[in-house]
Amino acid sequence: MNRINLSEELARIPTGISCIDSALAGGIERSIITEIYGEGGSGKTNLSLIISLSALNSGGTVYYLDTEGVSVERIRQIAPGAGEMKKFYLYRIKSLEDQELTLTKIERNIERGQKPDLVVIDSFTEYFRLEKGGDPSARANSMQKHLSILLSIISGSGCAAVITNQIYQDVQTGSLEPFGGYVINHSVKAVYRIEKLPDTRRRIELVKHRSAPEGLNAVFRITGFGIECAPG
Ligand SMILES: Nc1ncnc2c1ncn2[C@@H]1O[C@H](COP(=O)(O)OP(=O)(O)O)[C@@H](O)[C@H]1O
Ligand SMILES: [Mg+2]
Repeated sequence: MNRINLSEELARIPTGISCIDSALAGGIERSIITEIYGEGGSGKTNLSLIISLSALNSGGTVYYLDTEGVSVERIRQIAPGAGEMKKFYLYRIKSLEDQELTLTKIERNIERGQKPDLVVIDSFTEYFRLEKGGDPSARANSMQKHLSILLSIISGSGCAAVITNQIYQDVQTGSLEPFGGYVINHSVKAVYRIEKLPDTRRRIELVKHRSAPEGLNAVFRITGFGIECAPG
């Protein structure tokens, strides 16, 4: 039985970008998994890095599991003066097994008293698609295992977790859906979708949240130094 610490439960990690924080209902919530999904190039990695830097600038520790080859140059563009980069643990994940081992390692570090503020998996589904594409039940089981470790990390530390996810076109409905279906949906408590608008702008929209209305949204642009609000 875990007694809930109410002040910790309410804590959020803001991005510091006013329109995005409004769309996020104040920021990324601790103690839950937040999912950010959208097509390639929509801005998931940029936003994940900005959330990470915000946590670092508040003195926190961040684990960033990168499956897509995030650019160190891009990190420097967004964080030219971030002084606490030594608390940024960036792991290049090479396989599903590597992803699981890294999550297990973080879990063990927490048991030894090293508490992170944020764990990001960008993208969570990359290797599930690549390695388990043909076998839905093996994929669901494996995905559930990774999510269970992530949930254990959160419950052991009160940190925030962000997973990014790609989309596919559902053959029956024609709609664009995030991968992972009910397995991911069951484990994540906040969900945001980013879409590219016809010009260079993007819209982020709240799809699911425990304490904010669906449809909260913001329009932004990706710039040389990060993200800026744009007229909707
Ligand atoms: N220095 C920069 N100036 C402007 N836009 C940039 C810069 N660096 C990256 N981008 C833009 O960021 C977009 C990719 O965003 P990213 O967060 O990697 O997308 P996702 O993770 O959703 O695939 C691309 O459209 C790219 O042009
Ligand atoms: Mg990306």
